[in-house]
Amino acid sequence: MSRLPINISGIEFNSPLFLAAGPLSGDAAAVRSAARQPGVGAVITKTIFPESIEMDRPCMAKIDDQLWNHEWQAYGVDEVIGRLADLQVAVPIIINALGGTLEEILDLFQKLERTGPAMLELPIDPGFPEHPVELVRDLKHHLKIPLIVKVGASFPDLPGLAKRLEDAGADCICAINSIGPGLLLDPTTGRPVFGSARGYGNMTGPAIKPIALRCVAEIARAVNIPVIGCGGISRGQDVIDMVRCGASAVSLHTRSEEHTSELQSH
Ligand SMILES: Cc1cc2nc3c(=O)[nH]c(=O)nc-3n(C[C@H](O)[C@H](O)[C@H](O)COP(=O)(O)O)c2cc1C
Repeated sequence: MSRLPINISGIEFNSPLFLAAGPLSGDAAAVRSAARQPGVGAVITKTIFPESIEMDRPCMAKIDDQLWNHEWQAYGVDEVIGRLADLQVAVPIIINALGGTLEEILDLFQKLERTGPAMLELPIDPGFPEHPVELVRDLKHHLKIPLIVKVGASFPDLPGLAKRLEDAGADCICAINSIGPGLLLDPTTGRPVFGSARGYGNMTGPAIKPIALRCVAEIARAVNIPVIGCGGISRGQDVIDMVRCGASAVSLHTRSEEHTSELQSH
């Protein structure tokens, strides 16, 4: 792919196509491999938490063009911090991270900023973390590099929230994360497919694109900061649609095609 340079919040990217957070950017080796793929403008790490989290398996299922997951396994910051600082890759790295309390998140983001990423990304969903607008104001007070806030689709007033996040100092909004929770049943056993406590999981992939487009359009009308469109992108037309709805760049995970079989093996 030829270069299609863009600038978001003062950071230069050679392409507007980013790898979104997920297992394909789940550790240092995966980030390095993703960064070598032609046309990748940035790699966004899988969410890093203060402590490692192990999940109950199975945790991923592919049904037609949807991928379902309850993928919250994560490396704790102490496990990854040295490897993040040593990453020598040619594309900007965006570190996605989350903790339980405001203090924990503030401490985590300051530690991660010192490893030298281009940007940091905070994923938020209704109720988690609590008080996201106050949190963003606090983070921006302490951080030097730009902050992306990645919003879930199920906030009742997404454009209003995006505007408040912008006013609190967010440099960029990414929309959307996986959609859910939902319940998948195995037709043979009648039992939930996933090993999570209630068997719940979240949906990604082309089936969620119309919801992602609606969210991007609403947010882009409400804010003056850049919006990264994410959700269901699998071909060029999807990127064009996202840009038409106001996205400055896009990120994708499920249909980073050549990796689909790798994803399914989890
Ligand atoms: C298996 C899997 C794990 C994911 N893990 C994370 C995560 O750790 N943090 C996060 O913010 N988003 C996570 N996501 C969500 C993706 O970054 C993205 O927002 C979502 O999949 C929609 O894009 P897509 O349809 O292109 O996959 C995950 C998605 C998948 C499929």
